[in-house]
Amino acid sequence: MPGPTPPIDTGPLVLYVDDERPNRVVFEASFASRFRVRTAADGHEALAILASEPVAVLLTDQRMPMMSGDDLLRRVKKDHPEVVRVVITAYADIEPILAAINEGLVARYIVKPWVRDELEQLLRWAIAAWQFSRDSAALQHRLLETERLATLGSIVGSVVHDLNQPVVSMLMNCDRLAYLARAVPIVARLAEGAALSPRDREHVGDLVAELGEIVGEVTQSANHMRGMTADLHQFLRGGQRQHAAAAEPVPVIRHAIGVCQDVAVRALSFLRYDGPDALPAVRMSATELTQVLINVVTNGAQAVGDRAGGDGGVVVSATVDGGAVRFEVSDTGGGIAPEVLERIGTPFFTTKRTGTGLGIAQCQRLVGKAGGAFRIASEPGRGTTVTFTVPVRPDA
Ligand SMILES: Nc1ncnc2c1ncn2[C@@H]1O[C@H](COP(=O)(O)OP(=O)(O)OP(=O)(O)O)[C@@H](O)[C@H]1O
Ligand SMILES: [Mg+2]
Repeated sequence: MPGPTPPIDTGPLVLYVDDERPNRVVFEASFASRFRVRTAADGHEALAILASEPVAVLLTDQRMPMMSGDDLLRRVKKDHPEVVRVVITAYADIEPILAAINEGLVARYIVKPWVRDELEQLLRWAIAAWQFSRDSAALQHRLLETERLATLGSIVGSVVHDLNQPVVSMLMNCDRLAYLARAVPIVARLAEGAALSPRDREHVGDLVAELGEIVGEVTQSANHMRGMTADLHQFLRGGQRQHAAAAEPVPVIRHAIGVCQDVAVRALSFLRYDGPDALPAVRMSATELTQVLINVVTNGAQAVGDRAGGDGGVVVSATVDGGAVRFEVSDTGGGIAPEVLERIGTPFFTTKRTGTGLGIAQCQRLVGKAGGAFRIASEPGRGTTVTFTVPVRPDA
């Protein structure tokens, strides 16, 4: 009978950090014959190992007493940036993972309880990434960026999947609400002849005046969400959605402004559309055009809001320019410094505490896909103008 396979004692080192001893024992039993492995019970012990010998891959639990996984990762990112960092987490912890990925703390994550084959594959990838890094730091950077996007993609996949059901339920309720709203004129007539207190009369008056419009807006938003989840679903399955890409710009602009108004009204003294009442249809779906406009208008509104004591706002305008429609979103916010402007549109680049830094990257992708151009011009201290073009549909 051959004895158990001896542990490997040469090659790149994998450091596994977990406060629970049984997990460390299982890890060693699973991988010590395949990789050179060391384990640590807490962040301090891990840092001592990192200081004493080169480590290729750090695999750490996120929730640990003494030093949390994130604190450890932050120290390792700073003092040993070449180490490929992976976090182990419970599925429910999706927000901390996103935060860790966005902060560049980890390249990958693995969900507990891990499956051995999956984790082995991940470790092989991480070691390959570390080996690359010795050959080319720039290459490793690119590799990790790609990996971060792929990781984000897999998270998005599960979110999109779970989002579909509430969106469908919302749309069904919107249909029902639209049907119920048809009774509004009857309510108005009944209220006229009824003995109502002034307060009740005002209440019914508001209902009559607003219900139809609100139902319309909520339906449009729910349709927008369904369009986005459908696009994403298709994208994640590896194809482009085949929709007849044709948006009527003006209703989309009005809808996007309506959506942002609800969110941003307190920060702005104006948010309006300056432009013709009709424009030719463009070669982009309404879902995507809405997405681009909401992102750009939201950025403008946030910039205005960040500027203390201002009475500024955002103006959206649109004109026909050759074979395209040119959209312009101007804000009176603080503007963008040249060194920031250079980096905008790089996925995950953000200057905001709660930003993901994916907004402009997404806009550039969608406009580029439609064959248009996307440009940001800014005067620090005065404001920013985002301009993008989308080709007109040939038959429009
Ligand atoms: N109108 C603007 N005025 C000033 N800065 C802007 C403007 N638009 C974009 N920026 C800068 O560009 C960065 C990237 O914008 P982007 O929309 O991609 O991400 P974000 O707004 O930071 O985060 P998210 O859109 O995910 O919430 C912002 O953090 C901000 O620094
Ligand atoms: Mg944004």
